[in-house]
Amino acid sequence: MGPDKGIKSEQAALADFLSRRERLLGKNAPLFYDTPLHLVRGEGVHLYDAQGIQYLDVYNNVPNVGHCHPKVVGALTQQASTLNIHTRYLHHAILDYAENLTNTMCSSLSSVMFTCTGSEANDLALRIARQATGSLGVICTDETYHGNTTAVDELATLFNGGKPRGPHVKSVPFPDMYRPPEHWPSDDLCDRYLASIDRAIDEFEEEGLGLAAVLVCPIFANEGVPTVPLGYLQGVVDRARARGGLVIFDEVQSGFGRTGSMWGYEYAGVIPDIVTLGKPMGNGHPIAAVVTATDIVNDFREKVMYFNTFGGNPVSCAVAQAVLDVIQEEQLVKNAQEVGAYLRSGLGGLQQRHDILGDVRGPGLFIGVELVCDKSTKQPATEMTRLVVNKMKDRRILISKIGRFDNILKIRPPIIFSKENADQLLETLDEVLAEVRRDRGM
Ligand SMILES: Cc1ncc(COP(=O)(O)O)c(C=O)c1O
Repeated sequence: MGPDKGIKSEQAALADFLSRRERLLGKNAPLFYDTPLHLVRGEGVHLYDAQGIQYLDVYNNVPNVGHCHPKVVGALTQQASTLNIHTRYLHHAILDYAENLTNTMCSSLSSVMFTCTGSEANDLALRIARQATGSLGVICTDETYHGNTTAVDELATLFNGGKPRGPHVKSVPFPDMYRPPEHWPSDDLCDRYLASIDRAIDEFEEEGLGLAAVLVCPIFANEGVPTVPLGYLQGVVDRARARGGLVIFDEVQSGFGRTGSMWGYEYAGVIPDIVTLGKPMGNGHPIAAVVTATDIVNDFREKVMYFNTFGGNPVSCAVAQAVLDVIQEEQLVKNAQEVGAYLRSGLGGLQQRHDILGDVRGPGLFIGVELVCDKSTKQPATEMTRLVVNKMKDRRILISKIGRFDNILKIRPPIIFSKENADQLLETLDEVLAEVRRDRGM
């Protein structure tokens, strides 16, 4: 078969795949990349497609300790071939894991309620906060996503077709030193952002709803990992508590070492009342959780029989324990910190050569690179960001994009990422940026 025929039959196979998918899953089930990828295997920081082509994974934060880590797969197989059962029986693995998990946190985060997804964890955290405070109001940011249940979908603007927020939800502008709201002077940004929290709480009180919780991600991951004004998060916590509300940190993305600290709240230097966990907790296996003070859990459970059929079953806990062990044994938190710093400095170097790189920021191995058409006007380079992401994929490197203007490269690999991996990413990004500039005649 000649090369043209080979390409044609590959294209025909992809078209068949896509039409079968549309028929079975419906139209608009989301897919990455202009030409979607058909992946068949993963190992460490690499993914392989159906043709055996290797890709460097610089996007996936769920397989935090690397794709198909043998210790995690081993723990799963062993427990799955021994016993799997729901959580209304005694099982030591569940308690061992809850104990080891809470031992990595501060003393006020002492009891765990297990769920299967981050959405469920946030949903449960809202129920807990509303019950603990007797209030209904929830504050979130204006460009956020915390999951897909009805209650958390009421908070979102991302991914939900721009539908309005729920009746008991108020949003505030997310903190962003690079792109604050127009006409805000840069010297009092923190006070301005905090004033929007005060206003939202005032309104809830006037409406008779009161404040139940402020729910934010401590690194504002879905907002595009903006640089946050110093003192902002502590200010949020102080204000919420002073007005009778709780602070929930959604650590579904920031947890388990991603930031170069074990927890996003440690990175931020602020202790919340509740944290929610998910994604990397099971390295791909569906386990998630709410962690909060034992008194808060006791009070909630006294009134509500919360039961989650699959949440925290022995197999999930064995997997999650193995993930925790690997993070500790392989010193992955330190790795995220060191390789993250190395990568950010390399990106800083690229920024000197490529004017399109407006801002490079983010903690540990979660880096946002904001692309702009012009560094002084900061006009978002949305189309070029799409091109860069697709061209990186064509060169076997998987990244993605995010942000209200879809102009922020999302660089968020498994935290086993090495300096050699970082070099490969930097060299390829350098080439792709030069190519995009050439294509555009810039
Ligand atoms: C910050 C954050 N919270 C919660 C969720 C929802 O998690 P899940 O998809 O496991 O329900 C997501 C998912 O992307 C997320 O990014």
